[in-house]
Parts: sequence; C-alpha cells; structure tokens
Amino acid sequence: QTGLTTKRIGQKIEYVESCPSTQIIAHQLAQEGAPDGTVVLTETQTAGRGRLARKWDSAAQKGVWMSIILRPDVVPQKAPQFTLVTAVAVVRAIEEVTRLQPKIKWPNDILLNGKKCTGILTELQSDADGIQALIIGIGLNVNQEKKDFDPEVQEIATSLKLESGETVSRQKLVQSLLYYMEIYTQLYIEEGFGMLKILWESYSTTIGQPVRARMTNQTLEGIAEGITDDGVLQLRTADGKLHGIYSADIEMTN
Ligand code: BTN
Repeated sequence: QTGLTTKRIGQKIEYVESCPSTQIIAHQLAQEGAPDGTVVLTETQTAGRGRLARKWDSAAQKGVWMSIILRPDVVPQKAPQFTLVTAVAVVRAIEEVTRLQPKIKWPNDILLNGKKCTGILTELQSDADGIQALIIGIGLNVNQEKKDFDPEVQEIATSLKLESGETVSRQKLVQSLLYYMEIYTQLYIEEGFGMLKILWESYSTTIGQPVRARMTNQTLEGIAEGITDDGVLQLRTADGKLHGIYSADIEMTN
C-alpha cells in the first residue's frame, strides 16, 4: 500500500535498499524499456552524484533519493525546463508536508534559509528520433542532523528537520512529490511553461537580485531579470547588455 494518488508517475516503483546511484539504475531501466513514470527509490546511495560531476551526500534513511523516468513527446531543447518544473513540484511538496517556505535558486537548488536542502539532476537519453527518456534525479535532505553531512558541506547544506525542528515523514513527502510531478509535468507538456513560469518566479530567490554567474569560460555580474519560456536566465550587466545564461553556478552578490 503506497498511498499514491497518481496515474502515471509511480505506477512502477523500483525500490532498492542501497545502490551506488538511483540515476544509474534508472538509466539501465530506461534502456530496457521501462515505461513513462517509472520511479527508482533507495534508502542510501554509495556514489550519489550531483551536477557538474560533483558528489551527492546521501545519508542512510535520512533523505528522499529518487530518480523518475519520463518519456515526454517533446524536442530535446525542452529537457532543461523539466528541471524547473521539478523544482516547483519539490517546493509544493515541502510546503504541503511541513510549515517551511522553500525558495528556488536558478536553475535547480531548493533553499531553506539560504542553505540547500534539495538538488535536482536532469539527464537525457536521446537519439536521432529525439528524447528517448529523461532521468530526473531528486535528492531531498529530510531528517539529517548537522553531523550527518560531510564536513565540507555542513555550512551550505541543510535538511527539513534542521530547519523545522521536527522529524518529517519521508513517505508523505514522496507521495506529495509524485502527485505534484504528475500534475506539473502534464501541465508543462500540454500547455507549455507559461503558468509554471509564474509559479517558478514566485518561489525564486534569484529574480530581481544582483548575482554573479560563474560559467566554464567566463564570469558575469549583473541583475537576474527573469527566465525565458525556455528556462534561460536573463542577466543584465552594468553596460546594459542582456545575456542569456544556459548553465552556470549562481551566487547572490547583495
Ligand atoms: C545537484 O544539486 O547537484 C543535484 C543533486 C541530485 C542528487 C540526486 S539523489 C537521487 C539521484 N541519484 C543521484 O545519484 N543523484 C540524484
């Protein structure tokens, strides 16, 4: 009895006690033809991975470590927006299950009081015919104490328990998260990013703020004015130029 109310997402759930990374399992399952909405869930990851080949700390029984396989009929250019859609779903789930008010830092970090509680990693399987599968990895820090984090991330990472002072049900979070993923991915596929962009911007800490964007070959400073319908961050530098940022590490400079 999973308590799930969804029709697509979570109809097939692959649960493993421990694994190197749910992303690896999800990639394998997708290659073997796993259906749209398949979810991989685990208690602990020994080699959890983050964006930009970073490692993701995944303490046993303390978080929600999951990957969702989607097979949307959209062009590969639309893949990055699924990260933004997922961020909105995560925020709504945290709001529903706790009294916390999470914020989104472009493109994919969920923050509580300025510290990161969730990371999202969207990976793509594609070929000449387009997207074969999207593998959306979600790492949500739920019941960690400070000591459960690696020393090097203790100052920048947090958990729902650390911020709310209460133990939070991981089961309720998973149910709520899959529910919002179902609703919002459907809305995105059927109607595009318009409504979701309004929601995303309302939760964003980045928009309207002075930021520094570190990219692989340059760093730009300016005001984050908004995101486009493609999820591209619009950054206006002091010389008045508007730059489209596709991928970067963002730092608030105020
Ligand atoms: C980031 O912020 O860099 C993204 C972190 C994504 C972590 C999740 S945990 C579940 C899934 N499996 C992984 O190995 N990574 C993602």
